[in-house]
Amino acid sequence: MNTRILKIDSDNIDKEKIQEAAKVIREGELVAFPTETVYGLGANGLDEVAVEKIYKAKGRPSDNPLILHISSLEEIVPLVEDIPPIAYRCMEKFWPGPLTMIFKRSKIIPDIITGGLDTVAIRMPDHPIASRFIKASGVPIAAPSANTSGRPSPTKADHVIEDMQGKIPMIIDGGSTGIGLESTVLDMSIDTPMILRPGGITIEELRKIIPDISLDRSIVQKDAVPKSPGQKYRHYAPKAEMILFTGDIESMVREINKYADDYISRGKKVGIISTYETKDRYNDNNKLVAICGSRKEPESIAVNLFSVIRGFDSSDVDIILAEGVSIDNIGMAIMNRMLKAAGGKIIKL
Ligand code: TXA
Ligand code: MG
Repeated sequence: MNTRILKIDSDNIDKEKIQEAAKVIREGELVAFPTETVYGLGANGLDEVAVEKIYKAKGRPSDNPLILHISSLEEIVPLVEDIPPIAYRCMEKFWPGPLTMIFKRSKIIPDIITGGLDTVAIRMPDHPIASRFIKASGVPIAAPSANTSGRPSPTKADHVIEDMQGKIPMIIDGGSTGIGLESTVLDMSIDTPMILRPGGITIEELRKIIPDISLDRSIVQKDAVPKSPGQKYRHYAPKAEMILFTGDIESMVREINKYADDYISRGKKVGIISTYETKDRYNDNNKLVAICGSRKEPESIAVNLFSVIRGFDSSDVDIILAEGVSIDNIGMAIMNRMLKAAGGKIIKL
């Protein structure tokens, strides 16, 4: 299949191009598009045959449900059975934005969207191209992240091209995504709302509206079974083995250097995920050092994380050693993605 790359400037949106992309959706085909979190792989969420193409292009297990994306509040009404008052308060505060909420599904939702569950995930993205594209399509857009299942989520059109070229008819190139990690998934279908996946909206922010909010145990505990189907799969995985280090900065730098020197002495190519504050501490012995961002501004680490992991794939490293961050604010989502990328291999110092 020939994949068309449609470049759209988000500061000066070309309406005709948006219409072209919307037409592809209405014809039952797939379009990858930018959001403020990561790129999504979109299809008409009410068209079962179109949605099936998403699973095929990604190689995604069919029991992993999809998020429906909307562009204005009234579009949620036909999609869900019940909206609890607390959910309205979250919409007011965080939509459009990186918060996905789970509700009891309505009858019009195809089974393929929910993986057989009686709930459905809804999100209103905060990205000018995404909103215009959804509105022009006139249907809710089902969209997982636009990566091949298991790989890091795409934060640039080039990442989508890497994974989807030849498999889908259209990719909207709207530049780099702003946040770099996916939305927070919050279950609103239960009495006490629960975070199933940490993401762009932090637990600290959500607590201001839902003081008794809870966190799925599997986010913080290694062996607990996740409540969200998608969270049980290996994710964001680099080709190389990855080990995550946590502890104070001096101990992390010391241990990462020790591990790196040991691997290098055995002929391995080593990549290190560092920060501006520590980048100069790994200079010897041909270590490949990537700077993810600044510890003073953890948002910068979120923006670059997936891109850095993909970069190490291209340079064929054998092992990635990563510095952890504190789990405050966006740090919880960063550590969740790093831990998954490492397949649970963590060294606590
Ligand atoms: O930022 C994002 O959320 C991006 C952009 C494109 O919007 N999308 C995204 O989709 O990350 P995906 O499919 O990669 O992740 C959706 C997560 C999965 O872990 C899935 O299992 C969970 O949401 N999910 C979807 N529907 C659910 C439901 N009804 N109950 C529990 N978990 C659900
Ligand atoms: Mg994903």
